[in-house]
Amino acid sequence: MLDKRKFWKKQDESYELQDQIISIKKQPVPSHIAIIMDGNGRWAKKRALPRIAGHHEGMKVVRKITKLANELGVKTLTLYAFSTENWKRPKMEVDYLMKLPEEFLGSFLPELIEENVRVEMMGYRDSLPSHTVNAVEKAMRDTQNNNGLVLNFALNYGSRSEILDAVKSVLNDCKSGILNENELNEEVFSSYLMTSKHEDPDLLIRTSGEIRLSNFMLWQLAYTEFWFTEVLWPDFSEKHLIEAVREFQNRQRRFGGV
Ligand code: IPE
Ligand code: IPE
Ligand code: MG
Repeated sequence: MLDKRKFWKKQDESYELQDQIISIKKQPVPSHIAIIMDGNGRWAKKRALPRIAGHHEGMKVVRKITKLANELGVKTLTLYAFSTENWKRPKMEVDYLMKLPEEFLGSFLPELIEENVRVEMMGYRDSLPSHTVNAVEKAMRDTQNNNGLVLNFALNYGSRSEILDAVKSVLNDCKSGILNENELNEEVFSSYLMTSKHEDPDLLIRTSGEIRLSNFMLWQLAYTEFWFTEVLWPDFSEKHLIEAVREFQNRQRRFGGV
């Protein structure tokens, strides 16, 4: 009896979600959404679980949110999964975080392929363990011809290093004559960043109540709309993404104009 009730509740929720998707798509949906997925550790602590249990739960949310973003017609979803500063964490936690891409893709890659999602990554690959890079690169290869949502993982990503490296490359290219200094403008500079293939994010979401960027996409977020929520990442659900997109649709973006 209870199971039947649960089943119908799930059915109702799924119909409600479909209705909301239809209604939200009547207005322009952000083309690029970036998310700072924060609060996994606190989610686990509240339940007296080890921090890695929060990361594991958070992984399932990535799956749900990717699916919804794709259904909404979002072009790019960039997820901050590991920052260049996160190496400061205990080794056991870092080791687990480095295993997550394999775990995530091991479970969900076939579905991502089916849903026409293309996996990409930005970040410093050289200092990542080879098993992590191999898993992501395999997913990138297996999905390279897909033309639905681009699921872009920021893995060992840090924006200040990214900008500094871009400056160094620009200087090198000027020295060797590949680039003329007078031709350097914002668009050209952007092409030296790890996000060269992507538009700037339209919407940035950060969960867990922290109101900061933590070294995330400092150049790219210049005119992005920010949406913060107290909800911890493992508790983030479809309804929260819908709420964020609705609010985005009600914002007036002026880009310095009137
Ligand atoms: C976000 O959750 C995941 C990563 C940074 C990898 P946290 O692990 O930062 O969770 P809190 O902020 O400690 O709760
Ligand atoms: C930002 O979260 C990095 C990721 C979500 C991957 P952190 O939890 O590392 O950020 P701080 O330390 O609170 O600024
Ligand atoms: Mg955190």
